[in-house]
Amino acid sequence: MSDFYTLAVESSCDETSAAILNHQKVVALVTATQAVHEQYGGVVPELASRAHQSNIVPVVSAVFQKANLTLQDMHLLAVTEGPGLMGALHVGVAFMKSLSMASGKPLVGVNHMKGHVLAHCIQGQYEKEIQFPFACLTVSGGHTQIVLVETSTDLKVVSTTLDDAAGEALDKGAKLLGLPYPGGPMVDRLSKEGNPKAFAFAVPKKKDNDFSFSGLKTSLLYFIQAQTKTNPNFIQENIHDLCASYQNAVVQYLMDQFFRIVKEYNVKDIALAGGVSANSLLRSEFQKRGVEKGYQTFIPQFEYCTDNAAMIGISGYFEYLKNPVARNIVPKPRMAI
Ligand code: KG4
Ligand code: ZN
Repeated sequence: MSDFYTLAVESSCDETSAAILNHQKVVALVTATQAVHEQYGGVVPELASRAHQSNIVPVVSAVFQKANLTLQDMHLLAVTEGPGLMGALHVGVAFMKSLSMASGKPLVGVNHMKGHVLAHCIQGQYEKEIQFPFACLTVSGGHTQIVLVETSTDLKVVSTTLDDAAGEALDKGAKLLGLPYPGGPMVDRLSKEGNPKAFAFAVPKKKDNDFSFSGLKTSLLYFIQAQTKTNPNFIQENIHDLCASYQNAVVQYLMDQFFRIVKEYNVKDIALAGGVSANSLLRSEFQKRGVEKGYQTFIPQFEYCTDNAAMIGISGYFEYLKNPVARNIVPKPRMAI
């Protein structure tokens, strides 16, 4: 098979990332994370756009260097079109439009959430490749979705969140515990020395097919407010147990919902995607319950869990194979799958 190179760029939130793929294989991936937001306790959109502007040229140059290829070698360009922060998306879209105009190479716009799901189709990461149809639980800072993937271009959201996303619930919970942003990875680390059954937090009733996380966060807030009234050091003295119990509530709720809903669909392969799939408890629970129920489970490598351009490259490649017609690409902050 002759080579088919795709250059992809992702800039929807706080990661500036570029990747080069050859068909479905990643040749090189370079991701610059923006540390500037830490001091503000969340992503500051204007600062994200500025950081993308200064990162994008060095990141794209680095990916060409790493792959030992040039723009002339590319067959296709792909960029995240949405959803995401307007200013952040603009930087990637404007940059890739310019590259496309200057080089005459075709450009495709990619949905970021499709990207998270289709990252499983990147070849070389699993011993056995994922098969369609499959079901994917996407858990990130902004989204919680169960996606039914019929083919590489036919994706259907069958469940979503009514309020906070799973990652948001972890980040906001961490903030209540006085932990720095983003709290998810820190909660994961501190939980390792805590008791997941030390405290109980309220999770929603499991009859609806959509998720809801805002009650869980409020339950943590009321609990620590009550406890710190009698012991001002309650959080510091119990931080490991608090993290472990809160994380456990989020993960068990996610898993109960996912496995109950996915039973309704005829799939053999199930997958995890998005930044929260880096969580160690979620990974082990997904694996354990999946195997118990007879599914083949797919959990991406860490670099393909969080925001990255390789997932944009694979989705753009599939999109282009199906419909190689050029269309105007504009940032779509609220783009749906
Ligand atoms: O997909 P992602 O990189 O960005 C988008 O939101 O699109 O996901 C980021 C989210 C954040 O909420 C972060 O706290 C969470 O993923 N996260 C984790 C872990 N690593 C990242 N949450 C729990 N445990 C982790 N190890
Ligand atoms: Zn994401």
